[in-house]
Amino acid sequence: MMKKSLIITCALFALISIGYAETKSNETEKELGLRKTDLYSEGNETVGDQTKYGKDATGTSTKIERAFTNAPPMIPHDVEGMLPITIKNNQCLSCHDKANAEGMKAGMPNLTAIPASHYKDLRSADQKDLPTLAGARFNCSQCHAPQSETKPLVKNEFTPDFQSDAEKKGSNLAETINIGKDTLK
Ligand code: HEC
Ligand code: HEC
Repeated sequence: MMKKSLIITCALFALISIGYAETKSNETEKELGLRKTDLYSEGNETVGDQTKYGKDATGTSTKIERAFTNAPPMIPHDVEGMLPITIKNNQCLSCHDKANAEGMKAGMPNLTAIPASHYKDLRSADQKDLPTLAGARFNCSQCHAPQSETKPLVKNEFTPDFQSDAEKKGSNLAETINIGKDTLK
């Protein structure tokens, strides 16, 4: 009995080693990485895709569907002159802050106000509501990024499962964040 399992183990080990050696020999040091050109020729053929951010002005761009439920939405409009965000210059707030958004909507009906989750102290045990934006949310571009039109090197096979159509274009984190919390008590 002992012997049999030993033979099987050895056979398996040998098979795995062969497989490993095979994959190894298929790659040469010239072709590592995702790029399809020779590692030793840095010539004109090895050029990265250009970053092409959207140029549509605020108020004229088309919102991008959420990547998954409550994913931070991508910025659909031009951000020229708005980045980097500094303590003295956060133009995002001038349109998106809930204090300004209602008024700004007159000229830009598709404007999304900053959601309730950004006006809470999520670090406090009772997730206290704050009168103004939480400091942790000040640097918008830490989570919200403009989208570049670039061909992905590896196809993204991920497909999100939304529970409703509303989740494809809006957030509900502030309402859903505590679901199930009581069951932990
Ligand atoms: C002049 C007003 C204005 C400024 C400044 C502005 N935005 Fe916007 N933003 C809009 C409008 C309007 C939309 C809706 C799309 C449209 O109509 O172009 C939008 C859409 C968005 C969205 C997508 C929201 C969604 O529901 O999909 C995000 C994220 C966003 N902006 C982030 C930012 C960030 C971050 C900044 C600062 C770097 C910023 N915006 C600066 C007006 C503005
Ligand atoms: C720490 C990450 C983070 C930062 C910083 C942040 N956001 Fe968000 N934002 C999110 C996430 C995650 C969501 C979606 C879930 C939710 O509602 O919280 C979101 C949602 C939004 C939405 C969509 C609201 C809706 O009703 O669909 C807008 C607009 C937005 N953020 C604007 C901003 C602006 C403007 C700033 C800077 C003042 C900012 N955010 C800073 C993570 C962030």
